[in-house]
Amino acid sequence: MPAVTTYPLRADLSRSEAVPGALPVSQNSPQKPPYGLYAEKLSGTAFTAPRHENQQSWLYRILPSCAHPPFNSITDGPYKSDKPSDRARLEYIPNQLRWDPFDHNDQSDFVSGMHLVAGAGNPTLKQGIGIYIYAAGKSMDDYSAFYSADGDLLIVPQEGALDIRTELGWLLVRPMEICVIPRGIKYQVHLPSGSARGYALELYQGHFTLPELGPIGSNCLANARDFQAPVASFSEDYGATASEGPNAYTITVKFNNSLFQTKQPHTPFDVVAWHGNYYPYKYDLGRFNTIGSISYDHPDPSIFTVLSALSDHPGTAIADFVIFPPRWLVAENTFRPPWYHRNTMSEFMGLIAGDYDAKKGGQGGFMPGGASLHNVMSGHGPDASSYEGARNAELKPALVGKGSCAFMFESCLMVGVTEWGRNTCRKVQEGYSDESWGGVKVHWKRPDPFAS
Ligand SMILES: [Fe+2]
Repeated sequence: MPAVTTYPLRADLSRSEAVPGALPVSQNSPQKPPYGLYAEKLSGTAFTAPRHENQQSWLYRILPSCAHPPFNSITDGPYKSDKPSDRARLEYIPNQLRWDPFDHNDQSDFVSGMHLVAGAGNPTLKQGIGIYIYAAGKSMDDYSAFYSADGDLLIVPQEGALDIRTELGWLLVRPMEICVIPRGIKYQVHLPSGSARGYALELYQGHFTLPELGPIGSNCLANARDFQAPVASFSEDYGATASEGPNAYTITVKFNNSLFQTKQPHTPFDVVAWHGNYYPYKYDLGRFNTIGSISYDHPDPSIFTVLSALSDHPGTAIADFVIFPPRWLVAENTFRPPWYHRNTMSEFMGLIAGDYDAKKGGQGGFMPGGASLHNVMSGHGPDASSYEGARNAELKPALVGKGSCAFMFESCLMVGVTEWGRNTCRKVQEGYSDESWGGVKVHWKRPDPFAS
């Protein structure tokens, strides 16, 4: 049985049943659901959200999610290397920032190895984002599960595969693939290929969707058909006699950037069937159909948008997920790398593999597993040597980015940096700005008014 199945992203209701007949026919909440299951609704939007935004799923499970003792606040465990008071405190600075590759962490699992590096807004108001680096060396315990009440989590693996057991089924997510786990859905992350490292973005408001295509038409960029959802998969472990027994499941919830735990005597992975349009999904970045100029100049980088989470203002995103995949450059009489710019949006970039064409790679440069942040109106662009190289390059058709993929979390919000991101991680390249742009040359030549 395949671990995933392909469904059009958000375009229609999806359905999966691990036991034939577990989904009720023609209704959601029969007096007695099939096989003695409980019906449970999981809502990702207000019940009354407009149809095109409405996201809800019905789960048919052995025991309902509410069957657990009260949660207790925990100060140890996940995020323990951060001071609780500093965990979500953000410092807003206009300087360009770049980080060396973040450390591996073989002592942690996916959740305990996750650090908030930057963000904006506040999950209690359902406004803003959190940007994370994760590094893990071991799978989560089989008797554990995690969920976030704060938002949807977009995961971008950079090293190591993640085999993610969710309430709705399994998702195997490898580097050059991404996944989104919506708010509230419990999951458990296994590391089938050993240690793992990557990036994540938590979206406190709304949900990701595909960007509008406008004159591009009905295809290209990320196509809806290539998003994959899990198939239902369940355990029948409900035999622990007490919440403190050896088979009790530890459930950890992130709630307003604080962690709470409870133990329950039954598995949370007991969903036998589900249907709806609120589910985790994955996407292979290799399927992205890249668009670019075939005449002169290059379009705005919005042509590389994979997923977009819009604000209430049309065309303005709380978060865009943008990739820079391998692509042909053919533009004539054109400076082909990204232009110098200042942006009303903030740009957090990471590198999954290879070299990024506008920055030097290698030690002290923009490296896989590292990151950069160019905040609202912070000027940036190619470093001096990249500029000189592109300025003088012969403009033959050129394939750039082969074996490489940089990405960007772009947000309309001003992004702050945490204490962990600024200091504790010890990865900030203090000389980034000067090394990149301190050596830009003056090419200006005043025209000679007497020249004939
Ligand atoms: Fe930029």
